Amino acid sequence: MKKIGILFGMENTFPNAFIERVNSKDSGFIAEAVTIDKVVQADPTEYAVIIDRISQDVPFYRAYLKNAALSGTAVINNPFWWSADEKFFNNALAEKIGVPVPKTVLLPSKERPENTSETSFRNLAFPMAWEEIFQYIGFPAYMKPHDGGGWKSVYKVVNPQDMWHKHEETGQLVMMLQEEIDFTDYFRCYCIGQKEVLIMPYEPRNPHHLRYAAEMKATGEEGERLLETIKDYTLKLNIALGYDFNTVEFAVRDGIPIAIDFCNPAPDADIYSVGRDNFEWVVEAAANMAIERAKAQVPGQTNLTWGTFVKDALGIPAQSSVAAPVPAEAAPEKAPKPAPASAKEVKVKTVAPKKAPKLVEDKGILPVPSEPTPKIPTKKAAATKAPAANSKLKKS
Ligand SMILES: Nc1ncnc2c1ncn2[C@@H]1O[C@H](COP(=O)(O)OP(=O)(O)O)[C@@H](O)[C@H]1O
Ligand SMILES: [Mg+2]
Repeated sequence: MKKIGILFGMENTFPNAFIERVNSKDSGFIAEAVTIDKVVQADPTEYAVIIDRISQDVPFYRAYLKNAALSGTAVINNPFWWSADEKFFNNALAEKIGVPVPKTVLLPSKERPENTSETSFRNLAFPMAWEEIFQYIGFPAYMKPHDGGGWKSVYKVVNPQDMWHKHEETGQLVMMLQEEIDFTDYFRCYCIGQKEVLIMPYEPRNPHHLRYAAEMKATGEEGERLLETIKDYTLKLNIALGYDFNTVEFAVRDGIPIAIDFCNPAPDADIYSVGRDNFEWVVEAAANMAIERAKAQVPGQTNLTWGTFVKDALGIPAQSSVAAPVPAEAAPEKAPKPAPASAKEVKVKTVAPKKAPKLVEDKGILPVPSEPTPKIPTKKAAATKAPAANSKLKKS
């Protein structure tokens, strides 16, 4: 019997519910937690499908999954693409495919990466065009890692001095500076298998345990249109990126949904965080998607999903993929016409309280330097360590 596996870390509620749901469906596949006792190059696994919920934190698992994919396991999400992807690229791609995103620029890291020296940065203008950057983005703004997640190192910055000051704390992280979206509505949307979308009103300004206890403000026809557009944008983004399990966040300004965060290939799906109804939806959708992929899986060939960004680059028609049986619905031409999300889909029940983490703004209460000294990077840019004289990287 072909198996469906789930690879996970500290999560307590989603993985077991997923396993039980698949096993309750009498699909011919058995679901279980993945067990790894040895990893040998080019060895196939016993899984037709593996749902990956943790490899972003465990490089050993990421390598295991790439090896598994090579021998036929349909790994969800595609570990090769996930390794390559990050938020800043996502924003740029969104702009190319016509999904509104906040104006965003990339900033060089405060500290130099390990094993680099000043000469590694000879291509960087000093100073950079800060005036133009600040004019383009405006203040207040958000400064956050270009490949971050989980609200880590997300700062609201109110002026250049504030930005420089907070940037001091960011070490070797590559940050981006982003226009603040002053929103009326905010949504977090699950997207499963590039076709199922659940739109959840979300209030990021609430304490953690109350963020899903939000009501959508837009009403009537305007509300319907908004939900249609959000569904359309959510599908567009995931079809372009090639994710089968992802969330997209939107902030709504002047009736326009603007995508804020859509690189979440192991999105929070804890019942105590998302609430019972949303949890039920995601467990069911993920179980159905995994079974569908297991049925389509062909042993001995790669069974990964690739986004249209990659397919277009390789000149592969959108309906097909290199070897993977990507569902026809995933192709842009055939993408389901966005139907209005049902009232049920946007209903959110209160969830059990959970300890609230510090809010973004909390991080920002720091003394502001008197002068807006450009510090990224100076010629002496936080060079705490000189590279070894024989450093290979130095020669490059
Ligand atoms: N450009 C922005 N405008 C308004 N709020 C933002 C913006 N960027 C981030 N935020 C707020 O900060 C939170 C965390 O940022 P996000 O980009 O989602 O990072 P993460 O991937 O770490 O969750 C968002 O949920 C939102 O509340
Ligand atoms: Mg987020």
